[in-house]
Amino acid sequence: MVIEKDFQIGTVDDRLYGSFIEHLGRAVYGGIYEPDHPTADHNGFRTDVLELVRALKVPIVRYPGGNFVSGYNWEDGVGPRDERKRRLELAWRTVETNLFGTNEFVDWAKAANADVMMAVNLGTRGVDAARNLVEYCNHPAGSAYSDLRIAHGYQKPHSIKTWCLGNEMDGPWQIGHKAAIEYGRMACEAAKAMKWVDSSIELVACGSSNRHMPTFPDWEATVLDHTYDHVQYISLHSYYGNRDGDTSNYLAQSMDMDEFIRSVIAVCDYVKAKKRSKKTMYLSFDEWNVWFHSNQADEQIEPWSIAPPQLEDVYTLEDALVVGCLLITLLKYAHRVKMACLAQLVNVIAPIMTVNGGDAWRQTIYYPYLHASVYGRGVVLNPLVSSPKYDTKDFTDVPMLETTVVWNEAERALTIFAVNRDESDALSLTCDLRNFEGYDVIEHLVLTHEDAKATNTATNPQHVVPQKSHNTTISGGIVTTSLPKLSWNVIRLV
Ligand code: AHR
Repeated sequence: MVIEKDFQIGTVDDRLYGSFIEHLGRAVYGGIYEPDHPTADHNGFRTDVLELVRALKVPIVRYPGGNFVSGYNWEDGVGPRDERKRRLELAWRTVETNLFGTNEFVDWAKAANADVMMAVNLGTRGVDAARNLVEYCNHPAGSAYSDLRIAHGYQKPHSIKTWCLGNEMDGPWQIGHKAAIEYGRMACEAAKAMKWVDSSIELVACGSSNRHMPTFPDWEATVLDHTYDHVQYISLHSYYGNRDGDTSNYLAQSMDMDEFIRSVIAVCDYVKAKKRSKKTMYLSFDEWNVWFHSNQADEQIEPWSIAPPQLEDVYTLEDALVVGCLLITLLKYAHRVKMACLAQLVNVIAPIMTVNGGDAWRQTIYYPYLHASVYGRGVVLNPLVSSPKYDTKDFTDVPMLETTVVWNEAERALTIFAVNRDESDALSLTCDLRNFEGYDVIEHLVLTHEDAKATNTATNPQHVVPQKSHNTTISGGIVTTSLPKLSWNVIRLV
């Protein structure tokens, strides 16, 4: 590998390390909010969970959905708790108590040191509910909805900057699913009205739910045709899994994310050209993760229960490596992908798990997310990489070494993130630091395990944790190391 200071991809927007809390399963109830929990604070927030979230330095959290938002009446979740109505929640077939809503989430996000990415319902509702919610959250005072917020105990506006215009509106499973032209028109009108209430907000239009949707990429072309002048971002969603037990193919799936990002950039730039626009559209990869372990268990869940254990994937080491490869892929497009949300944050396909009334712990995927968020801020460099390659069922020329480099000039810190996809052998790495003179290796963190299916659980939460490697040296500007088979590596130099 050769690393050059001047080969720069772009500056990482902190919001690349965002996450997501949906009213789904135990993400809210039993996850971030559990008033009876021994660690609960005066708001009912679990402080053990807050600690694990704060350590991740999550810059922004998307809320309240997801599929949930497409049937949500935001008014149900504000005001006196004893007056809030229970609703049938059609996306996940549960009962929503509404004991937690917009204001509670804003308080929670503040406690987590995160900003809010708020989604509006463009499924069962539309322009009116969307602009009213912006007024409720962001208008200072002197209007019906801003005064309602004040009456609810929030004198100061929430000043939420980032807003999603609905969720996965291309998906037939979505409540109020729409054709691209229907959604494009509605998103355009909602965007105009929301910005007329608060011109400082930024908007994300819905792109495709994944790159295998039959309407991809025409969906993006049509939606952007209608919304290009009114939004700043188009969304991408993608989940990966190892349903066939084919690890080498599974580990290569970040190449699907890579292709997805490249295609969406191409569509954005096509619409830019068509409109003779000077404006560049940015990407918000606002749902991404591994999701497949819990699919069967979810079919057994009793409908209309309250906060049942839905989408509770228990992640393995190999899942953590895929998450690492996906993070590296997002970094490689730092010039266009400005926001991304690991979906989700607590209990629901999440890096953090809890027992109701009991402990909170870190899943395997917590660690690559933690390392990227803490050490992956700065400028992404484009290293010259030469790696052995392999082919799988779905991918050709998959590099054994998946890697990227982030340089934080202000802190004079250089971090190499690397995954060794090889299932049987270590990979020896030499890395020429060229014009990074005087840098020393201060730490090499490795996440690996003899058993690729090893997990962390409530009873064994420390089974898969990062270790320090001591076989990394630097001499004459050349870093030499060995990356264990199936490992996530963070090599830190200052
Ligand atoms: O994150 C889980 C679900 O995945 C979200 O509700 C939806 O947007 C996506 O299909």
